[in-house]
Amino acid sequence: MTEEKKDLEALLQEKRIFEPPADIVKNSNIKKFMDEHEIKDADELYQRAEDDPEWFWGSLAQELEWYKKWDKVLDWKPPYSKWFVGAKTNIVHNALDRHMKTGIKNKLAYIWEGEPGDVRKLSYFDLYREVNKLANGLKHLGVKKGDSVGIYLPMIPELPIAMMACAKIGAFHSVVFSGFSAKALRERLNDAHAKILITCDGSYRKGKAINIKSSADEALKDARTVENVVVFNRLPEGELDVDMTGERDEWWHELTDGQSAECETEVMDAEDLLFLMYTSGTTGKPKGVKHTHGGYSVGTSQTLRFVFDLKDDDVWWCAADIGWITGHSYIVYGPLILGVTSIMYEGLPTYPKADRLWSMVEKYGVTVFYTAPTTIRMFMRFGEDWPQRHNLSSLRILGTVGEPINPEAWIWYHEYIGGKRCPVMDTWWQTETGSFIITPLPITPLKPGSATKPFPSFKADIYNDRGESITGKGGHLVINTPWPAMLRGLYKEEERYRKTYWSRFKDTYLAGDVARKDEDGYFWIQGRSDDVLNVAGHRIGTAEVESALVSHPAVAEAAAVGKPDKIKGEVIEAFVILREGYRGDVNLKGELIQHVSKEIGPIAKPAALNFVPDLPKTRSGKIMRRVVGALVKGEDPGDTSTLMNPEAVELVREIVEGEK
Ligand code: WT7
Repeated sequence: MTEEKKDLEALLQEKRIFEPPADIVKNSNIKKFMDEHEIKDADELYQRAEDDPEWFWGSLAQELEWYKKWDKVLDWKPPYSKWFVGAKTNIVHNALDRHMKTGIKNKLAYIWEGEPGDVRKLSYFDLYREVNKLANGLKHLGVKKGDSVGIYLPMIPELPIAMMACAKIGAFHSVVFSGFSAKALRERLNDAHAKILITCDGSYRKGKAINIKSSADEALKDARTVENVVVFNRLPEGELDVDMTGERDEWWHELTDGQSAECETEVMDAEDLLFLMYTSGTTGKPKGVKHTHGGYSVGTSQTLRFVFDLKDDDVWWCAADIGWITGHSYIVYGPLILGVTSIMYEGLPTYPKADRLWSMVEKYGVTVFYTAPTTIRMFMRFGEDWPQRHNLSSLRILGTVGEPINPEAWIWYHEYIGGKRCPVMDTWWQTETGSFIITPLPITPLKPGSATKPFPSFKADIYNDRGESITGKGGHLVINTPWPAMLRGLYKEEERYRKTYWSRFKDTYLAGDVARKDEDGYFWIQGRSDDVLNVAGHRIGTAEVESALVSHPAVAEAAAVGKPDKIKGEVIEAFVILREGYRGDVNLKGELIQHVSKEIGPIAKPAALNFVPDLPKTRSGKIMRRVVGALVKGEDPGDTSTLMNPEAVELVREIVEGEK
C-alpha cells in the first residue's frame, strides 16, 4: 500500500467506534459511583457534575481523610482558585499514614526493577518507614516547613521517598528530570531557591552506569542557595567515581542511619504549596508551575480511580518518568492515595531487548498499563512478534498520554498489547492541569485518535480567534471551569501566569494546544499552538534550544522548529547562522548538536542542523520562526513579501527540499 493510501485508510478508520466492554462497565468504579448517587446514565452523570461541581468534588473529597474538613469546596476568583477552603491536610497523610490503620499497610506499594534486573519490593509500611527516616534526616539538616528542596534522581524508589519526605515536613519539592543537563538543573535550583539537593551517585541506562552526581556537582558550582546535598548510593561499589564534597555532601544512608522510623506529619493548609514542576514555555526561561496539597490530592487520586478504574487487586504501571508531571500525579501521589500496587522501572524500555516491558507485564501480572504514543510507535516498528512472546492476558485497560496518538498506533496498541479486549484511555492533560482533563471513562465509547470528552464537571471548548465556540474546525483549546488539581500560579511570576494562560480570553484558561471538537463533542488534539515543541511527549521550548545554540561561540543566530516524525511525533530541526570566521562543516555540526544536549539534555538534541547565511526576518529583525517551520513541514509559509529579506525564504526552502 502506498503511504498516501495508508493515511487515507487511517482517516476512514477514525470513524470507527469502540464500545466499552460490558464486564468492565458493569464492575467499574464510575458505575458504582453512579449507582450510589442514583445516576442512570453517562449523560446524567456529566450533566449533574457540570451543574454542580462543588457537589461532585465535595463528595469525592470524602474518599480522603482530612485533619479538618473544608468550610467551602471552591473559591474562584479568576485566575486563581482555592479548593477545600479552610481544610487541613497533608498529602502524605493520605498517601501513607492513613494506610497504616488498614490492610494496605502490608500491601506492596512498588515493585521496582533496575535496568540490570535487580528487583526491590516495598510495602506501604516499608515506604512509610523510609519516608519518616529521611524526613527526620532532613529536619536534622535544618529543613523546615515552607523550605525549598531540589530533587535530581532517576527512577528508583528513593525518588518517591524523597518527594514524600519533603511533603511530610511541609517543605516543597522541585524534581528535575535526571536526564536534564547540569545547566538545566542549576537554573531550576536557583529559580526555586533550593536549600537542599537530593540526588544519587548514578543510575543504569542502556546497559551503562550514568554519573548523576557529577552533573549535580557541576550544577552546584553556581547554585548558591543549596547548603547540603544528600546522596543516595544506588550503584555497586567501584562502578563509578563519586566526589563527596566535605561539609556539603552527605550519604543518604548515613543521614538516615539511626533516625526514627516515626515522624510527625506537618499539618498543612489545603492550599499550601506541595511542589513546583518546571515546564517549557515560549521564552528561554522555564515556568515553575505550582501545585498544592489539598486539591491536587483529590484531583489526582479521583481521576485515576475513575479513568483507569483502579481497585484493590490491580497492578498499575504508569511507564513514565517521575521527573515529569505524569509520574508525580500517577506514579507517586495518585496511586499511593488509592493504595494500589505500582510497577516502577529504572531503565530503557528496550533493554536488553525489545520485549523488556512485555516481559514485566507478564511477570508481575500488570492489569492496567499507561504509556506514550511515541513508545507505542517504537514498538510497532519492532513488530508484534515481541509482545506475542508474552502472555499479556492480565491486562484489562490501557492508556496513552503526552501527544496525539495516530489511529494506526491506537489500533495496534489495542490489538497487540490489549488483545482487542482492553479499552484505550487517551488522556489529554498538562503539567499545569495536574490531572487528566479530557479523557474517556471506562464507560465511554472510544474513537481511535480522540481523547474523547472532558472529565465530569470540567468544561473544555474550542474557540476561534474571536473567542467563539466552534465545532468541526481547528481552534484554541480552552478550559472554562476551575478544577481541583489546577496550577495555583507560576512561582514568583504572577504576571507571566496571567499573561500566558488568562489574557487571551476572559476568565478562560488557554491550554496552548490546537484542537477540534466533532459533532459528538469529542475532542481531537492536533498539537501545540505556541512555540513549544512536543518531542516524544516532552515539551521543549524552541527558544530554549535557540538560546542553547547561540551560547556557543560559533553561533550568531539560530532558529529551532519542529519537523513531523513517524516515531517521535516531532523532532527538532535547527538553522544556524555562524559568526564570522567559522566554517560550517560536519565537525561543527556534530559539536553544536552535542552542545544543545549538554546545555539542556539529550531529549533536546536537534535531529537535523543546517548552516544558513541568512534566515527570514521581520523588518524589526526578528527571526520568523513560523515561516521556517512551515517550510520544514512542507506547508505554505503564507505572505512573505513584508519580510525584511524575502529572499531568505528561498534559501531555507532549497535546504529543506535538498533534504528530501
Ligand atoms: C502537552 C502537555 C501531562 C502529560 C505529559 C505531558 C500534549 C498531552 C496529550 C494527549 C494529545 C497531548 C499537549 C499538552 N498532550 N497529552 N492525550 N493527546 N496531546 O505534559 O509536558 O505538560 O505537556 O502535551 O500538547 O499541551 P506536558
